[in-house]
Order: sequence, then C-alpha cells, then structure tokens
Amino acid sequence: MNIDGKAWRTIWLEPDGRSIGVIDQTLLPHRFTTRSLGTVAEAAEAIRTMVVRGAPLIGVTGAYGLMLALQVDASDASLAAAFEQLNATRPTAVNLRWALERVRDHVQPLPPPQRAAAAQAEAAAIAEEDVAMCEAIGEHGLRIFQQLAAARPPERQGQPFNVLTHCNAGWLATVDWGTALAPIYKAHRAGLNIHVWVDETRPRNQGASLTAFELGREGVPHTVIVDNAGGHLMQHGQVDVVIVGTDRTTRRGDVCNKIGTYLKALAAHDNGVPFYVALPASTIDWSLDDGVAEIPIEARSPEEVTAIQGRVLAGPAAGQLASVQLTPDGSAGFNPGFDVTPARLVTGLITERGVAAATEAGLRGLYGHG
Ligand code: MRU
Repeated sequence: MNIDGKAWRTIWLEPDGRSIGVIDQTLLPHRFTTRSLGTVAEAAEAIRTMVVRGAPLIGVTGAYGLMLALQVDASDASLAAAFEQLNATRPTAVNLRWALERVRDHVQPLPPPQRAAAAQAEAAAIAEEDVAMCEAIGEHGLRIFQQLAAARPPERQGQPFNVLTHCNAGWLATVDWGTALAPIYKAHRAGLNIHVWVDETRPRNQGASLTAFELGREGVPHTVIVDNAGGHLMQHGQVDVVIVGTDRTTRRGDVCNKIGTYLKALAAHDNGVPFYVALPASTIDWSLDDGVAEIPIEARSPEEVTAIQGRVLAGPAAGQLASVQLTPDGSAGFNPGFDVTPARLVTGLITERGVAAATEAGLRGLYGHG
C-alpha cells in the first residue's frame, strides 16, 4: 500500500539476499523506519516486541526466521530449536505456528545444504499467498459493503457509509492489503463514500497509531475514537457495519481478536449492527471448537497499561517520542492481549473463498476439510 506515493509491503528480502527487511511498527505513526533482521534471535525479538505484529505478518516473519536460522546451521537440531524459539514469541495468533509448521515440514526432508534456500522460497510463497488472500477478502467484503450501503433508507443514501474497526487489521498486520481493512480500501477505490471509526485500541493503540496512519496515507476518511465510544455511536445510528480481523478462529466460528473486540460485538448485537470478521484460511484453527475455553490468551506486560507512548507536544523535548506513566506508583496493571467473541455474535466470516456463516458447517462449506 501507499506511503507518500511509494508502494510498500511490510516484509521483504533485503538486497543482500540473506536478511529480512521490516517496518518498525513500534515507532509509527511518528517515525517511519525500516529494520534489517539478520538472525533468528532478531526475528524472534521483532515479533515479541511488536516491531512486527498482526497475525498474518507474525506468521510470515516466523517463516523467514526459520530461514535465518538455517543459513547459520541447517541441522535438525537447529531447525527444532528455531521453531521453538519463534513459536514461543506470541501464543495467540495461530498463523505463527501454521507458518512455522509449513516451512519446517517443507525443509525437513531435504539435505541440510538445501534447507535455507528452500525455507526462503517457502516463506516467500506464504507471503505471496497472503497478499492474494487479503486482496480476495477485500473483493468479497466490498460486495457486502455495497449491499449494506444500498439497503440503507433513502434519507441516509447520500451520507457516508460508516464502518467501525478495532485494532489494526490492515496492511501493516499482513503483507499487503490487510484483512478487515482490505474491503475498506477496495470500497474507497470503487468510489463508495466511506468513513471509518477507528477504535484507538488500548493499551498498544494499534488503531490510533497504525490504522489511522494507514487510512490517512491511502486518503480514506476516518476518525479516531476512544474504545468506549463505539456503543454510543451504534445506539445513534452512526455505525453501518463493524469489521475486525482475527488472530485465531475456531472451527465453529468463535473469533479471537484484540482485547475489546468482544465488547464491540455485544454492542453491535444489541443495536442490530452487522458484525463481520475478515480472515485468511491461515487463521482458522481446525483443532479447536470452543474459543473461550481453548484459545491461549497472551498476557503482556502490565507496563503497557500503566504507561503510554506518544510524541511530546511542547517543551524542550517537543517532537521526541516518550513514554509517560498514567497510574499511581504501586497500582498493579493486568494486560490480557485478546478476547474471544462467540460465533453467535458474528454476522459472517469474510474469507478469501467467500463469506461463511460463523458455524462449523459454514466454514466447512468453504474449505471442506479439517
Ligand atoms: O497484538 P497485535 O497487534 O498483533 O494484534 C493484532 C490483531 O488483533 C489483529 O486484529 C489480528 O492480528 C488480525 S490482523 C489481520
């Protein structure tokens, strides 16, 4: 997608043909900086610290991380250790394990001297497939948006079509396009008069910092709101549809996504607002049924709750990035990173293969397997 007229992806093979380039998402929206990852330890650290984040991008970074390990030592032991190191970085998004397994299973039967190159090719294939899946999600979601916009009463036809989204499920969370934001980009390019309510998404503020950055660079009208505003907007008819991404979706359609998503789904349900979830196949965990009981929820550092990062507005440090403490000394913080929205609150799952009901039958109707 576009930044100052230049098309970017979130991850690439560097010109040296060995290391990986990424955008440092911890510094956005105030600094646009890229980083080179040259070792598996650097790849793991980038995932853990959220230099890269978002379920599909974590998966692709993990896949390239295996390549980085195999460049140094292509033995079975090295492969297994790198797999464990990368898989331990973030527990909730199933794309990570899925991508690691895919690369491991691809390279393991090969003689060690061939493994690093094979891992590189497989990681690149995963990245390309992710781009294609996200663009297809965009097309399917566009049709839903067009139908919902057309179904509005005559007095609302001239008004913007209002979409609410939570966290960042845009191109920064994937390789390109995004999941939940792909239909928004498609709709904007197709000429739909669209406006996006962007949940700030405490504690890491992926909405305020990343979604707002992306939408701004693509010229999509948007407004950042505090996480607690969505219910009020829905009560007053100011949200036509909610669309979010997901880090793991169970076979019956329970959806795990950034903390706070569940509350948006409840408010949408109470107000008759359609609640869609956009996901590529790599996000479905066919081994799980009950998301609330079975999906591991990442607990991150309490400091992400008790402090906040931003750009200093005034004074000698104006313009610099800084962290400030929000809470009294001694107050504990608790920071579950994700929650689960039960399938009954989900209007539909928008996948690269089309739209499914959030049920096992719905998902199997599209994918036909387990
Ligand atoms: O903690 P993050 O920023 O990795 O969480 C990201 C999300 O919750 C996204 O909505 C999800 O990964 C889907 S991204 C296409």
